Amino acid sequence: MNRDKEKVSDRYDIWTPFYDAVDNFPLVSSSQKRWKKNAVEHLDLSQGERVLDIGTGTGQILPWIAEYMEEGLIIGSDISQGMIDKSKKKIRRMKNVPDDLTLKVVKDDIESSKFPDDHFDKIIATFTFTTIPNVEKAVSECARILSSEGVMIVLDTGEPEDRHGYLLFYPMMISAKVFGRTHMDRDVEKKLSKRFRTRKIEKNMLGMVYTLKCTL
Ligand SMILES: C[S@@+](CC[C@H](N)C(=O)[O-])C[C@H]1O[C@@H](n2cnc3c(N)ncnc32)[C@H](O)[C@@H]1O
Repeated sequence: MNRDKEKVSDRYDIWTPFYDAVDNFPLVSSSQKRWKKNAVEHLDLSQGERVLDIGTGTGQILPWIAEYMEEGLIIGSDISQGMIDKSKKKIRRMKNVPDDLTLKVVKDDIESSKFPDDHFDKIIATFTFTTIPNVEKAVSECARILSSEGVMIVLDTGEPEDRHGYLLFYPMMISAKVFGRTHMDRDVEKKLSKRFRTRKIEKNMLGMVYTLKCTL
């Protein structure tokens, strides 16, 4: 693992015990959950599909994906061992998982993924692309492992569309960089659009939080 990636995975290992508590903090929790649940809905899941949640973190959205499926495969992937252990615990506690639905969490670096070509019908990444050290490599791997008819949904953060938004953006950007090694100032859509057709399907917080539908 290169140094940048080690820094990201070390940071998320440290964050693992607190991540859900911060995510569940009253002021941020309801909006975050709504954005993520909407992103899952935008996947437009069908029975039997193979779904990948890149940078699953504590696996928060895995049960929400499972709500739509009776059969198929759902995989959460991450590079942080702490996050992987936590999300594995979460899926072990899930009740009433249908027999024909396989749910797992694996260690996988999306910059050089171990999954085969054309493997997934759906890919989702919530607040992941702004933390990946080499986004170009990750984008190209996503294009490789997504099936040609597949859909990828990306929920992430970026610069505001309105100049007033910068009053909020700069403090958020600095704390995200310090605490999460997250680069909110990164133009994820531009990088994704080199390999995918992208369409913005949802905007929140003056455009600072957006959802993209990506197809090949
Ligand atoms: C901000 S967290 C988002 C977690 C979760 N998706 C959520 O919405 O709560 C970003 C996650 O991406 C993971 N990550 C960063 N770079 C990665 C890479 N190259 N491959 C896989 N996961 C990565 C981090 O370890 C971290 O768990």
